[in-house]
Amino acid sequence: MKSTQQKIFITKQIPEAGLALLQKKGYAITIRKKKSIITQQELLKATKNTDALLCMLTDPVNKKVIASMNRCKVISTYAVGFNNIDVETASGKGITVTNTPGVLTDATADIAFGLLLAAARHFIPGDKMTREGKFIGWDPMLLLGKPVAGKTIGIIGAGRIGGAMAERAAGFGMKILYYSRTRKPQLERNLKARKTGLRTLLKQSDFVSLHCPLTPKTHHLLGKDELTLMKSSAVLINTARGEVVDEKALARALRQKEIFAAGLDVYEREPKVERALMSLPNVVLLPHLGSGTDETREEMARIAARNIIGILEGRGKTFKVN
Ligand code: NAP
Ligand code: GLV
Ligand code: GLV
Repeated sequence: MKSTQQKIFITKQIPEAGLALLQKKGYAITIRKKKSIITQQELLKATKNTDALLCMLTDPVNKKVIASMNRCKVISTYAVGFNNIDVETASGKGITVTNTPGVLTDATADIAFGLLLAAARHFIPGDKMTREGKFIGWDPMLLLGKPVAGKTIGIIGAGRIGGAMAERAAGFGMKILYYSRTRKPQLERNLKARKTGLRTLLKQSDFVSLHCPLTPKTHHLLGKDELTLMKSSAVLINTARGEVVDEKALARALRQKEIFAAGLDVYEREPKVERALMSLPNVVLLPHLGSGTDETREEMARIAARNIIGILEGRGKTFKVN
């Protein structure tokens, strides 16, 4: 190995499309082969003398890990969300943090709308009943759900994915409310969306869908008090981050039928799922599949690789978060 060769550490196997771009540059690439989430200890050791880290949204790229990096120039996360990275500490050391926005917007909005339909119309209990041979014939009262078309959706965090969710909802003739930091004139013009306060949104919506990032301000944005404001016929969808909802309070609200159903792709202590949720029939549980299509994950791999190349070589388009 040449002494000038730059070292890249990748915490999980990613699609070949991205690896090929890095290999072409002649970097010394180490890929962690395990399926488990990398621990802080492992990360510390592996990133001490690396020039670039390509990490997953699961990885604890915290103060301690970043503080012990001797020559890292770029932390490229294979995700749009970067709440697992201590960006402030990285900035303090002159390390650029990058992400993969945009390419996963439609895939994630599709999962969110899929969860909405599945939770409103009993897809999972219906599938289970059918497989178990318990479908004994059409029945006027069988697994009655909640109507979707024409109802009101409340979007929390009207950014890229929130906006794409609003477009899907508009296709179903839904009325759109949104809660965000800034006004979205385009959503208002094109989809007749209306900006409201959080409490109004929760009180008036038949469906509430979370699309904000996890930040200190959005941690437990929906807790017991907020869930109480929702209609008893309402459905909550979370494809943002688990910590945005108080999971214990949500389980209680679902069990006591304070809300009708929920569809979740993310969890507060991921990959752990609140035990109380596991046994409830009125919640659909997905294993964080938001961006999970073959094409999207390939494109994310290319972007995560280009972000590294761009920073190490000082040219080309990169998606910086600091
Ligand atoms: P984005 O374009 O940055 O949108 C996020 C929006 O949230 C922004 O428009 C921002 O509002 C709003 N926001 C920020 N802080 C807020 C607050 N305190 N209260 C209300 N709204 C707030 O990001 P994105 O690409 O749509 O992704 C959104 C999130 O989805 C990511 O951060 C990630 O956690 C999650 N995600 C999950 C999956 C999955 O697999 N389930 C996949 C991709 C992303 P303003 O524009 O008004 O400032
Ligand atoms: C997925 O959750 C992402 O943030 O990309
Ligand atoms: C249901 O299948 C119907 O025809 O109404």
